[in-house]
This record gives sequence, C-alpha cells and structure tokens, in this order.
Amino acid sequence: MIRKPVFAANWKMNHTSRDAKTFMRTFLMQYARRPDRTVVFFPPALTLAAVSDAIKERQDILLGVQNIHWELKGAFTGEQSAEMSREAGAAFVLVGHSERRHVFGEKDEETQKKCAAANRAGMTPVLCVGEKLEERERGETDAVVLRQLRAGTASLDPATIGSMIIAYEPVWAIGTGKTAQPEDASAVHAVIRRELAALAGERTKDTPILYGGSANAGNAAALINAANVGGLLVGGASLEPEAWATIVRT
Ligand code: 13P
Repeated sequence: MIRKPVFAANWKMNHTSRDAKTFMRTFLMQYARRPDRTVVFFPPALTLAAVSDAIKERQDILLGVQNIHWELKGAFTGEQSAEMSREAGAAFVLVGHSERRHVFGEKDEETQKKCAAANRAGMTPVLCVGEKLEERERGETDAVVLRQLRAGTASLDPATIGSMIIAYEPVWAIGTGKTAQPEDASAVHAVIRRELAALAGERTKDTPILYGGSANAGNAAALINAANVGGLLVGGASLEPEAWATIVRT
C-alpha cells in the first residue's frame, strides 16, 4: 500500500489566533476534503486552539506543534510537554527543525529525547534533517543527514521508527527561494529510505519522507512527483490560504 502524500504547513512564528481564523475561513472554502492526501498544520502553540476550533468539522485536517520538551513536567520555563501538546489536539510534532538546530542550538541528543517523548505521549514525531550549504559543498550531505537520522531514532524501537515521518529540509533551501532540484531531493530521500530500512526493515518502505525548503505552488507538483518524495513541509508558501490551498490540491 502506498501511503497518501502528506502536505504539512509549518507556520513558524506567524499568525495570531485571529489571523488563523481568517486564514481558515478562506482555506476551508478552497480545500474540500480529499481522501487521497493528508493535510497537517503546525501553528504556533498559542494559535493551536484557534486552528483546532476552526477545523472541528473537518476531521481530515490534522494538527501538530513545532517543538516539545522531552521531560514530562517540571521547572522548564517557556517549554511545553508532549502530553500538553497532545491534549491540545496535536497529533504530530516537528523535531530537529533546522531553525531549532541552527538558531536555538538544538543538539542531536535532544532530538533523540524529543522523538522518544513524542512517542510516549502517542504523538508522531516528524524528524527534520538537512545539511547546511557548506556541508553540501564539502560533499557531506549524506553523512550529515544519516547522522541526524540515526541520532533522532536511536532510542526508538523498529515499530515506532516505522510509524514516524521524516522531513528532508536542506538548510540552504529554507526561506531562501532556492529549491532543491527534484532529482537532488530524490537522491537524498533514497539515502534516507535505505537507512530507514536498515534501522527498522520492511515496515519503513512507505514511511513518508517529506521535502521542505522553498516549496511553493509553482514547484510543488514536480517535487511531489519525484521518486521517494512522500509529501511537502512548507513554510512561507503556507502562510497565504490561497497559495496553500493550491499546493494542497496538487
Ligand atoms: P520555507 O518553505 O519558507 O522555505 O520553509 C521551509 C521550512 O522550514 C518548513 O519547515
């Protein structure tokens, strides 16, 4: 069975609850339920309730958070746990997003603990991996991606690895307007797919591997049709309801 493509909107630190309501009014009019794809929104944590409310008649649309802490609870000012996120309606969590790694200094060991915490809480981690420009230029893309993939999954059992989502987001393509060529994305996705098989066997053959990095309405079709690309994780182009609806209908 081929899994449905996943279209995921990472709003990053954009859209207040009020913005989200306006966005959803337009988006829901432009995107009728389609059984052949999965749509997920990752709004800011404080906007999650507004999005959840807006989609309560639309069980086909799913929610995630952009980050969690790995501990159950405690003195971690500013953080949110997996359980809190799950209770608020998030079924998914982004782990190891490039901005977490490179703006906030998140380490591989933290991605490992966050994936484990997500799994404990019954959430699906979306583990993000990707190389920086200088790493790509030094020919280190595969090594970087494999290191991040192995670290993020290190404490998960094979069944859990088989049920997660991976996102390949080359750092040089994020928010820059420079998209990876579909064949370049495919080549890295194939490396990820092989490693998933080595880690957790046959059950990973349909694991969605999303591409992210300046995906938009113009390049979405070429990317989504590339071999081994199981969906898109979209930042900038998911902020406008019309553009996002166009991408999701691809
Ligand atoms: P852009 O689509 O804005 O390049 O962002 C990609 C991204 O980081 C999604 O998580």
